[in-house]
Amino acid sequence: MHTPSWRIIGRGVYWLSMPDYESRLFENMWPIPSGVNYNAYLVSDGDECLLVDSSKNVYDVEEFTSLLKQVADPRRIKHVAVLHAEPDHSGLIGGLSSIFGSPMLYSTLRASAFMRSMFNVETRTVKDGEIIRVGGRALRVIELPWIHWPDTMLLYLEDEGILFSSDAFGAFGALEKPVFDDEADFEQYERNAKEYFATVVAAYRQMVLKALDKINRLGLSLRLIAPAHGVVLRSRIPEVVEELTSWCELRRKRKVTVVYGSMYGFTERLARLACGIIKNRVDEVAFHSCVSSSVNSILSDIVDSAGVVFITPTYEGNVFPPLSNIVELLRIKKMGVGKIAAVTVTKLWGGTAASQLSSRLSEAGFEVSHVCEYVNYPGGRDLTEYETLLHGFIEKALGKVE
Ligand code: FEO
Repeated sequence: MHTPSWRIIGRGVYWLSMPDYESRLFENMWPIPSGVNYNAYLVSDGDECLLVDSSKNVYDVEEFTSLLKQVADPRRIKHVAVLHAEPDHSGLIGGLSSIFGSPMLYSTLRASAFMRSMFNVETRTVKDGEIIRVGGRALRVIELPWIHWPDTMLLYLEDEGILFSSDAFGAFGALEKPVFDDEADFEQYERNAKEYFATVVAAYRQMVLKALDKINRLGLSLRLIAPAHGVVLRSRIPEVVEELTSWCELRRKRKVTVVYGSMYGFTERLARLACGIIKNRVDEVAFHSCVSSSVNSILSDIVDSAGVVFITPTYEGNVFPPLSNIVELLRIKKMGVGKIAAVTVTKLWGGTAASQLSSRLSEAGFEVSHVCEYVNYPGGRDLTEYETLLHGFIEKALGKVE
């Protein structure tokens, strides 16, 4: 399945939808078993068209042009907007420009430098508030840097109330056909959007909050939000804005995530025990093996958890490396802010996994409230003590619920 398609989403506004079921990883690191969509848009008036973004080069210029020709003569494309220079949107711009006959390319100053560096393509720099005119239509530039790169701008089509939002409001998941939010499986969309946030955007959540505030202050009449990935939003815009805000704030629910590593199943027993105890005290427990769960789902579950239990065997004196990778991502993204962590370590001989893990979780922003380390696998009285420790952790975590 690799069929691009298009749809009219407003007067003279076309959505060019390019599903990618081929890439197994987004940014070559985040698993996307259900693929991802690249959305480009065409705004038309009279003899002129503006193309907003393009696609990753899983499609080639000929495939993209062939889709484009179904809605407009490519020679009418006098303008191309590069909302963000990351190659999943800008990858075809250079090749397309020569086919279109040298249209004017627009981008922010930062994106201009990136386009020159990556593709040897020159763009005209536009600034916040500037208007790009397409025939008699006006698109307002809204600079919103750091929706995960520093170069992003959005475009607002005044006469239709359409916000072309680049990566903001994006979601994983390839689309068999272009659909609006009210035509999609909304729960699936929410999962895909949350995973996209947790992996790609979360490190820049404070900037996204500023961006949402700026959009709010501009008082735009938003009929549609047309992002660069995922469905176009029309019916559930306030709900999606509220959800994105809550993720950016790492708002905590009565939810605990248990993430564990285990080589031969002994440490997993402790994780299952912990899960059984915790689930009676909270509304939701997310249970993840750091090996068999996808990193996307682990990070996504941590976003709205009040507490996280990390359980690891000792490996060559250190934290089990697959768990270490998760903790490093949490540290980079500072995703523990406001949350409680408990650490459980097993070992048969030496090592410093417990102190290493505690210190790195603190760097990730967690308050590490409980640490326990077992030499040999615990049983009997040890397990009673473990249960007591977990109840203490749960009390702390529930105290953080908003
Ligand atoms: Fe979808 Fe940051 O590019």
